[in-house]
Amino acid sequence: MALETTDFLDIDDLTPAELDRVLERASAMKAGEDAAQLPNQTLAMIFEKPSTRTRVSFETGLTDLGGHAMFLGPDDIQLGHGEPLRDTARVLGRYTDGVMARLFDHEDVEILAEYADCPVINGLTDQAHPCQTLADLLTIREHAGEDVRVAWVGDGNNVGQSFVVGAAMAGIDVTVATPAEYAMDEAIFDRAADFGADPTVTTDPAAAVADADVVYTDVWISMGQEDERERKLAAFDGFQVNEELLAGSDAAVMHCLPAHRGEEITNAVLESERALAWDQAENRLHAQKALLVELLE
Ligand code: CP
Ligand code: NVA
Repeated sequence: MALETTDFLDIDDLTPAELDRVLERASAMKAGEDAAQLPNQTLAMIFEKPSTRTRVSFETGLTDLGGHAMFLGPDDIQLGHGEPLRDTARVLGRYTDGVMARLFDHEDVEILAEYADCPVINGLTDQAHPCQTLADLLTIREHAGEDVRVAWVGDGNNVGQSFVVGAAMAGIDVTVATPAEYAMDEAIFDRAADFGADPTVTTDPAAAVADADVVYTDVWISMGQEDERERKLAAFDGFQVNEELLAGSDAAVMHCLPAHRGEEITNAVLESERALAWDQAENRLHAQKALLVELLE
């Protein structure tokens, strides 16, 4: 059965049942038990920002499925040289079976979806990173089941915002600890409430970590925020996921990567047995293959 949505701009473009189905399919693909293919299907991948995981996992994933993904960086296409996004969208939609885009403004991925006559996947905007959330939820399923408490510690950023909504859809209990000035958008909690969730919000990382099974963090300075570096580093004092914060806890630790060791997380924690970051990164591949099959087939 086809998904209700034609585009995947944020995690709640899926219904909770569809999210479960994508994750089940991802597990089956990972186990070699689902051989779905997308022969000769093509995906245009627009990148305004750098990427390791998103680029390589989509490209490898679609190749595994018998199709072909094209990397289109800022200097590769006319988009970076004055062609309006809606024109790029209209044209790509006539060539390719799907478009994946990593952009700055979330509104731009919405424009892409409006004008491209094919499915559009958000590969990260300043507001959301739903492909990461798929991999995160798959990783939590594998390691901890879903009867878990997750503490998001750090910036109320794109990765955190999509995760809070996705966790709500999966029935996962979340506490969010951010500095007050870097809180998540209020709308995120309204969207979580649509799925019956009521995330706890605090400015105290120790309180968030105290009864958590999983602690999740991401960089404090996201791509495009380099000018805010000094101000943000000061604001996040005390929010580092380190051995002191985790003392007395046996929580696993998640990080979407890339990590800035010595800022939001220490080398010791990321290199410890607690770290699930490597499985999260691998699961991008399996989760996105499942998503591509569900969206494009
Ligand atoms: N987590 C993630 O999206 O990584 P990349 O920036 O390397 O794609
Ligand atoms: N919050 C980070 C995530 C990178 C995958 C950023 O937007 O740069």
